[in-house]
Amino acid sequence: MKELLKRLSETYGPSGREEKIAAVIQEELQDYVDEMFTDRMGNLYAIKKGSGTKVMVAAHMDEIGVIVTYIDENGFLRFSNIGGVSPYIMLGQRVVFANGTIGTIGMEKLDDIKKLTLDKLYLDIGAKNRAEAAKLVKIGDIATSERELVVAGNRVIGKAMDNRVGCAVLIQAMRELSESPNEVYAVFTVQEEVGLRGARTSSYRINPEIGLAVDVTLVGDTPEAPTMSVELGKGAAIKVKDNSVICHPRVKELLAELAEKHQIPYQFEVLTAGGTDAGAIHLTREGIPSGVISVPCRYVHTPGEMVDLDDVESAVKLLKTFLTEPIEMQKIYSCS
Ligand code: CO
Ligand code: ZN
Repeated sequence: MKELLKRLSETYGPSGREEKIAAVIQEELQDYVDEMFTDRMGNLYAIKKGSGTKVMVAAHMDEIGVIVTYIDENGFLRFSNIGGVSPYIMLGQRVVFANGTIGTIGMEKLDDIKKLTLDKLYLDIGAKNRAEAAKLVKIGDIATSERELVVAGNRVIGKAMDNRVGCAVLIQAMRELSESPNEVYAVFTVQEEVGLRGARTSSYRINPEIGLAVDVTLVGDTPEAPTMSVELGKGAAIKVKDNSVICHPRVKELLAELAEKHQIPYQFEVLTAGGTDAGAIHLTREGIPSGVISVPCRYVHTPGEMVDLDDVESAVKLLKTFLTEPIEMQKIYSCS
């Protein structure tokens, strides 16, 4: 799992430019599924055929980044955000473009640090002037954090645990899923960080009977963190609500029942900000009962995102259990 997380986290793949990470995931799943293909948006589908309930499990494979908006005559680049990027966190960061060009982020003279915004920052790729910079980087090119994954005790720290850890959970569950009575569509979605866009189109295409997303969630267990009951190392989180979805009560209960039955550590999650792919899935066509398995993550949207390996294992087990047992849709619908 550590090796898989390392490979996934270190691969370049900002929203809209997911080709490299899609190729890596395809390679990791090659021998384990019945069919794989990508669609026009870049979503990657991995299918295990079955005659039962049609299930879609989405894990977004994109990560946040910065996009070049302007190159000045001295060769400094100005940039905007792709997804939720904080100027405080970007200051001093090393970033990398698709072609391997590396840059460091500096700041204009600023008397009040509280006034730091993205447009006070610039990216220095070592170019002496505009012409030299333009040979390496074009307007619209996107850079992501350049950071190796490290193991710290039973935890790992990486730049794209959001959401490569979700991709790893979905990959591992699909690998371990030998026989499923269900028709399982694992979808590695694009452009979640800019508005759940890949999940919207892929879920329309599949039209599943039930939907799940696997993503990270925030925690409340760090010094003076906002009050929240999710903690690192306390198990997979079963989402109740965030800003994009109120999870279907019966899907949420089913996940909790399975966790109890198989003694998988879990915790309920109410996230007061942010959203995930289930937000798009559950609003597809006439509505699709949906839930979310979350991996608790500290320092989300920084280059130092941290997850606990026991939580990752719990999430894999819970997802695998969910996909292994027959899903009776009548029981799900009877609640709504
Ligand atoms: Co995110
Ligand atoms: Zn995410």
